[in-house]
Amino acid sequence: MSKYIINGSKPLKGEVFAGGSKNSALGVLTAALMTKGVVVLRNVPDIEDVQLLLNIFESIGVKYAREDSTVALDTRGINETFVSTPDAVKMRASYYILGAFIGKYGKVSVPFPGGCAIGSRPIDQHIKGMTALGAKITEDLENGRISAECDGLHGKEIFFDCVSVGATINVMMAAVFAEGTTELVNAAKEPHIVDVANFLNYMGAKIKGAGTDVIRIEGVRSLKNRGDYTVIPDQIEVGTLMIAAAATKGDVTIKNVIPKHMETLSAKLEDMGAIVTLYDDAINVKGTDTLDAVSVKTAVYPGFPTDLQQPFSVLATIAEGTSVITETIYENRLKHLDELIKMGADVNVKGNKAYITGVEGLYGAEVSATDLRAGAALIIAGLVADGQTVVNNAQHIDRGYEKIHEKLRLVGADIEKISD
Ligand code: EPZ
Repeated sequence: MSKYIINGSKPLKGEVFAGGSKNSALGVLTAALMTKGVVVLRNVPDIEDVQLLLNIFESIGVKYAREDSTVALDTRGINETFVSTPDAVKMRASYYILGAFIGKYGKVSVPFPGGCAIGSRPIDQHIKGMTALGAKITEDLENGRISAECDGLHGKEIFFDCVSVGATINVMMAAVFAEGTTELVNAAKEPHIVDVANFLNYMGAKIKGAGTDVIRIEGVRSLKNRGDYTVIPDQIEVGTLMIAAAATKGDVTIKNVIPKHMETLSAKLEDMGAIVTLYDDAINVKGTDTLDAVSVKTAVYPGFPTDLQQPFSVLATIAEGTSVITETIYENRLKHLDELIKMGADVNVKGNKAYITGVEGLYGAEVSATDLRAGAALIIAGLVADGQTVVNNAQHIDRGYEKIHEKLRLVGADIEKISD
């Protein structure tokens, strides 16, 4: 177990580099298994979820090496499509191996996915898509596994009943080796979907429309190892740092950014009174003495990202007036507010809406991270609060943020990480 200790109410000032996108890297790393050879991937964040995925890859014969944010995968030794390592239930993206392997090997089995406890997170759309392509899916509830097998895949028009990042990436990968044309309708449009599609096309796939709600995939027989690809910056880490700058009334420039990915958050921060300046590959955020309350409703991209809802709620706790935050993607992603109440926040939750009335300031307390982005919210609250805050269960945060305390210290935060 580990925890963060923060002495707050210091404005963050200076420059900090954002890392590579967790939610893109997990898809790109898995897509790399669809080709044979040594694949070099750059800007891969050194975080728990990526390490768990690399452990899973190693358990089925993949060799890998990491130097800073560059990971080399040698996929020539893959000798197993039955994933059994316990690491596979500790994170969610292990199910991407279904989509990557079903077309190539015709048979694959993985444990049911894990991931943040923010809702039921079913995978019915993943199953719907792969079944439509011709895969036979078996859910083994007793052993907690999901398996797929097929005698070749055939392209199909697939309509997703709900917009799903994971199902879009998983079924898109499966469709790459399906004979004929596949059309994914009501597809997710997040930047990481586009990044995975770009990587697959870079290796010879024929995918059009990624980033729109209709993705068309022409099946190919195999992919070529082109050797070297750079993952996009992490939209959620950038957003978390932007929020921390505004919340502490600081002045922070975040580098290694695609500003277009940050448009919705930038607009909300400006609505509250913060000053956001966009550059080619950087964003500057200046906080102001008073922030105005706003209403936020999470939505699929390009709407307000659900992954930034929890960090953003800290801004609402110190804004003038009452903000209304509505979580529409997950049914259980407001738990962090109980912890913010321990720090003096004035919050009322009714169903999927949180009514947050700004207070003079937060005060330090001992709190617990219940999931990855809840933990990020508590760190931001500790930076804002008067006095010392201890954020327990920091291992949740390490799943998606690479050395967040070191990045925050770079811009003046008084934060340290204690590993028990
Ligand atoms: C990805 O999860 C991200 N994780 C999540 O980030 C992110 O919150 C989410 O997309 C939404 O943007 C990774 O990429 C590893 P979904 P995913 O499928 O793919 C329902 C973080 O903090 N749904 O888009 O699991 C589901 O229950 C994590 O980095 C179905 O009903 O999300 C949810 O309510 C947390 N059936 C909604 O759709 C399905 O088959 C969105 O889920 C699939 C999803």
